[in-house]
Amino acid sequence: MQFAMNELDPATRYKLLVNTITPRPIAWVLTRDAQGRNNAAPYSFFNAMGGSPPLVAIGMAADGQREGEEEKDSLANIRASGEFAVALVGEAQAEAMNVTAADAPAGTDELALAGLEALDAAQVNAPLIAGAPVNFECRVWKLVETGPHSAIVIGEVLVAHIGDAFVGEEDGKLRIDNPAMKLVGRTYAAGEYVKTDSPLHMDRLSWKDVQGD
Ligand SMILES: Cc1cc2nc3c(=O)[nH]c(=O)nc-3n(C[C@H](O)[C@H](O)[C@H](O)COP(=O)(O)O)c2cc1C
Repeated sequence: MQFAMNELDPATRYKLLVNTITPRPIAWVLTRDAQGRNNAAPYSFFNAMGGSPPLVAIGMAADGQREGEEEKDSLANIRASGEFAVALVGEAQAEAMNVTAADAPAGTDELALAGLEALDAAQVNAPLIAGAPVNFECRVWKLVETGPHSAIVIGEVLVAHIGDAFVGEEDGKLRIDNPAMKLVGRTYAAGEYVKTDSPLHMDRLSWKDVQGD
C-alpha cells in the first residue's frame, strides 16, 4: 500500500513514521528555564549526526497536550539559553524517564518529580542526571524551524560524561561497554520500548570481500 503524505491528516502521517522508523534511541533532554528551574523530558526523534563536529539532532513537536502551552518547555528553554544536556536511558532509568514525559505545567522540576538526583554540568547551564549511563553537555549549533512551535534542535556535544563502569581499554584503545548500559529505545507504538540486548553481528565487507576474491 502506498500513502501520499500530503493526502493524510497529521496524526496518520505521524503514525506512519513512528510505527515504521524503529527502534529509536531516546534523548532525555535536560534544560533550565530563566528562573533556574530544572526541566526534563524524553525525545525519541533523536540521533547522532556526525563526529566532527560532534552533533546530535532532536525533533521537537508543538505542544498538543497542555491548555495554552504552544511550545514544549524543552524547546522554549533551549531557545532562551542556547544550551541543554542529553542523558541516555538505561533499563534502570526507564520508569523515571516515563514520569518526566507527563504533561506537567511549565516550571515543574520533572527530575525532582521522578526522584532523580540532578548534577551540575561542567560547561552548560543545564542539569545532568546522576546514575544515567551517559550525559552529554550540548550547545545549540543550529535550530531548524519546522512549523509553528516546532523545531529540530541540532546541538554540538561539548562534554560527554560516561559512567566509569562503562569505560575501559582494549588493545590500548578506548572501549565503551555499551551492552552494559542496557539502553532502551522506543518502538512501534505508544508505550512500547525495546531493550538493546540482542545484537546482530556482521563484519563490514570490503569491495574485495563482496567480489569473492
Ligand atoms: C519515549 C518518549 C519519546 C518522546 N519523543 C518525543 C519526540 O521525539 N518529540 C516530541 O516532540 N515529543 C516527544 N515525546 C513527548 C514529550 O516527552 C512530552 O510532550 C513532554 O511532556 C515534553 O516535555 P517538556 O514540555 O518539558 O519539554 C516523547 C515521549 C516519550 C514518552
